[in-house]
This record gives sequence, C-alpha cells and structure tokens, in this order.
Amino acid sequence: MREANAAIVERAKKQFGEIVEEQLSRIQRLKEANANGTPLNYALERPIVVGFVGGDGIGPYIIKEAERVLQFLLDDKLSTGEVIFREIEGLTIERRAKLMQSVPEDVMDAIKRCHVILKGPTTTPKAGDPYPNLESANVTLRRELDLFANVRPVKIPEEGIDWVFFRENTEGAYALGSRGINVTEDLAIDFKVTTTIGAERIIRMAFEYAKQNGINRVTVVTKANIIKATDGKFLKEAERVARNYHDVVWDHWFVDIFAAKLMDANRRRGFRVIVLPNLYGDIITDEAAELQGGVGTAGSANIGNRYAMFEAIHGSALRMVEEGRAIYANPTSIMRAAAMLLRHIGFMAEARSLDTALDVCTKQYIITGRSDGLTCTAFTDHLLETIKNQKQ
Ligand code: IPM
Ligand code: MG
Repeated sequence: MREANAAIVERAKKQFGEIVEEQLSRIQRLKEANANGTPLNYALERPIVVGFVGGDGIGPYIIKEAERVLQFLLDDKLSTGEVIFREIEGLTIERRAKLMQSVPEDVMDAIKRCHVILKGPTTTPKAGDPYPNLESANVTLRRELDLFANVRPVKIPEEGIDWVFFRENTEGAYALGSRGINVTEDLAIDFKVTTTIGAERIIRMAFEYAKQNGINRVTVVTKANIIKATDGKFLKEAERVARNYHDVVWDHWFVDIFAAKLMDANRRRGFRVIVLPNLYGDIITDEAAELQGGVGTAGSANIGNRYAMFEAIHGSALRMVEEGRAIYANPTSIMRAAAMLLRHIGFMAEARSLDTALDVCTKQYIITGRSDGLTCTAFTDHLLETIKNQKQ
C-alpha cells in the first residue's frame, strides 16, 4: 500500500512541478513585457483594426447587429480607412471540438492581427456535455492575449448606483482551472494562482481609474481570512498600491459579506470602484448585473497592454437557438460592450452617443427573448433611429 502511495505522490509531484515551472516562466515573461512595453496608444495607431467574432448560439445574431451599429457610428472613419473592420470566422464549438483546440490557431492568428475585437459568447464545455471537455475559449483568449483586466460597469441611476468592477482576469482560480489533478479516484485537487505582478497591475488599474475620474473610494474584495496565500497576497498588494493614492479611501471586504451587502439597498449605494480576484469577480459581477436588470444588460471589457476584447457578460444561450428564439436575443449587453470598445480606442463622442441611445431604448422597447418582445434586429433599428435623431 505504502509503495502504491509513493508512486501516486511521485506522479502528483511531477504534475505540480510542471505547473510551478510554467508559472515561474510566466512571471518572467510578464516582467520582461512590463519592462519593455507601455499600453498601446490608440491615438497613434492608424488604421485601427476591429475584429468581429460571432461565437456560438445567439452570438452571431447579436454580433451582426452590433457591427451594424458600429458601422453607422464609424462610417466616416471606415471610409477614410482610419478604422478597418474584419469578420473572423471559425470560433464555433463544433470546430473547436473537431480540432481539439479551445481557440483554433487560425482564429488566434486572425485575432492577433487586430487591435481590438468584439466577441459573441462561446459555449464552454463541461464534463458530460456532448463536446470534449476543452478549456473555455474565453479563458484561453484572456491568457494568450494577456487581457489581465476585466472591466464591468453597472449602473442603476434611480438608486444613485454607478459601479465599476475591476476583475482580475488571468489568474486566481482560472489560471489552472483545466489543470487540476485527479490524484486518485477519490482525490481531486485544483490550484489557485496569485502573482505579485498580476495582483499589482489590476489593483493599480482600479486606483488609477478612481483617481482619474475623481472617485475617492476603492473597495477590495477577497476571502483572505480563509484562502491565506493567494488572497492574502492580493490584499497585501492592495495595501501597498493604496499607499500611492493618498486621495483615495479604500476598504476591504470579504466576498461573502460583500455579496450579501449588494442586496442591501442602503449599503450598496456606498460602493463605487471594486477590485477583486478572478472567480469572485465572475460571481459578483453577475449578481451586480442582475440588480441592474439582468446579465443581458451589462457589457464587459477584457483589457491588456496590447490587445483588448469586448464581449457580452452572458453566455451563448444555445437553448434559444434550439427553440427557434435566437432572433429574439437581447443585444443590450453586446451593445454596451461595443460602447466600451469605442471608448477604449478613443472615440468618446460615438461611445456616448451609443450609451445614451441605449439608455433611452432599453426603457422604451421591450425584449423578452420570446415572440412577445422585439427581435434583436427590430431593437437595433430603433437604436439606430435614436442615434440618428440625436445627431440632428
Ligand atoms: C464571464 C463568463 C466566463 C467566465 C465563462 C464563459 C468562461 O462567465 O465572462 O464572466 O467564467 O469568466
Ligand atoms: Mg461570468
């Protein structure tokens, strides 16, 4: 028995050793990139190449409409060639399963030839699904393009709520989410990763955002009382970064009570900029988006120093397609993401125009995901009308 255990331990050690080595080289790469690179300055980049990736399920339906809106808003820039649009095919679950690649190489290459992309949701397989249990395409893209910040704004104006979540996007429970070890049939172990450089850059981004927008409050969320090494490091980095921002008051909440306080209408008004590790950010931003009106209403930006990817916060909703309801998909989330894309590449007026039109249209026109609501295309027609009327 003891000998059998020794073999099991050796195998596990080997797997763990490989993971540690990989993470050490990753830190090395990040340090080198940090030393050599500053974030891309879009004001100097011409043309700016925008890629559109449909994805799965309702993805192609909502992306098509978002492209139509961006086409209208950037009409002049497209005709001068300042901005170029590219449609990138082939990021579908069927193709990914066939090639056994969570992001097919040709798609990855095409994406890397763009500055920014607008991406529809992609189906993430899990054990028991008809597809091989591949890594999520999102997780692969975030890692390969080093999109370390997931920025998710949530607004509830009638409550005075204006939150911006900064979710760490390449580490935490996600970094090795597909790399856990089934040590024996009875023992499974997963890993969670926090690096100094990874924690520092997302926390700094949140504080910088607060400072530049005249917001004097940043909330850091962890579970550092229980997850002592990784969340402990995240919190320690927050303490260190905060010292450089004298005008920003910061506080720290454990994720469980933070989730609870988002349900407290009086308390939640006090939050403003929130920074948190990957998995907590995943969960809390869904909760926050639900408060705003549903996960179909919030946009999501994945930002790195070189690339950026904008997407809806919701999933691919394969069931809507199976039930013939894809044409009723709600494009609000991807439109919000499109507005974030515009802002990111420096087209502020266009972004504002889209956001304002969305504020109007989401109140005025009802989408239910079924035939008793508007279709995705009809909603977008109204949105375009609203934008055109603003212009006059
Ligand atoms: C999100 C999604 C993704 C995540 C999935 C699709 C991999 O839930 O963007 O929040 O878990 O990060
Ligand atoms: Mg999520």
